[in-house]
Amino acid sequence: MIFEILTTFPGIIEAVAGESIIRRARDKGLVEVEAVNLRDFTSDKHKTTDDSPFGGGPGMVMKPEPVFDAVDTLISRRPGKVRVALMTPQGERFDQAKAEQLARENHIIMICGRYEGVDERIRRHLVTDEISIGDYVLTGGELAAMVVVDAVARLVPGVLGDESSAESESFSSGLLEYPQYTRPAQYREYSVPEVLVSGNHKEIEKWRREHSLRRTLERRPDLLNSAPLTEEDRRTLVRIRKEE
Ligand code: 6GU
Repeated sequence: MIFEILTTFPGIIEAVAGESIIRRARDKGLVEVEAVNLRDFTSDKHKTTDDSPFGGGPGMVMKPEPVFDAVDTLISRRPGKVRVALMTPQGERFDQAKAEQLARENHIIMICGRYEGVDERIRRHLVTDEISIGDYVLTGGELAAMVVVDAVARLVPGVLGDESSAESESFSSGLLEYPQYTRPAQYREYSVPEVLVSGNHKEIEKWRREHSLRRTLERRPDLLNSAPLTEEDRRTLVRIRKEE
């Protein structure tokens, strides 16, 4: 899986991709994360990547030529299917389903918007996906791009040590995760729920499912509308709701 990230701040990308699980995945050859400096695709002495908007108004707009040239070059270097994602607060909201969709790709080019925006021709004639990571405004798309790289890379087989851990988590099941505990069983006056130290695996599974449902009902009831629920889950929810 190859991520090429077009940016005027390659240091932000390198800083994030040079640590932890993404770094290990790169070392293992499972993912490639390459920061591509947009300034390398400019032709003027000042390496200009932005300009003032036609029609006037405040702020600067990303020029089309460096972005088109960079994307053309990257595509010709690695022929084959490619997604070209523009990182922008105007994009489609990124979620786990989108991460799973992107994890099935081999080559993703990400364009990090900066300034007030990008020339509309980039959007219209180059980009296949416009992605936002949430309803707030960042100073640029770099951190958003790395959020997407992180969420997608961990779904690539082999990136996480334990293959089961990607699935049993929040959102893949459509529910929030159940509470987790580790040793010691007693810490200060706080103890671990009895059932979890009982060794009774059937009871442990029941407890975990119930607490996933409780947590989801409390914090993200909206998720219950689309989560795949069994008849027993529905009975459990009815019982929990009666507890006021
Ligand atoms: Cl992708 N870019 C910027 N600049 N701000 C954002 C964003 C992206 N997603 C949420 N806010």
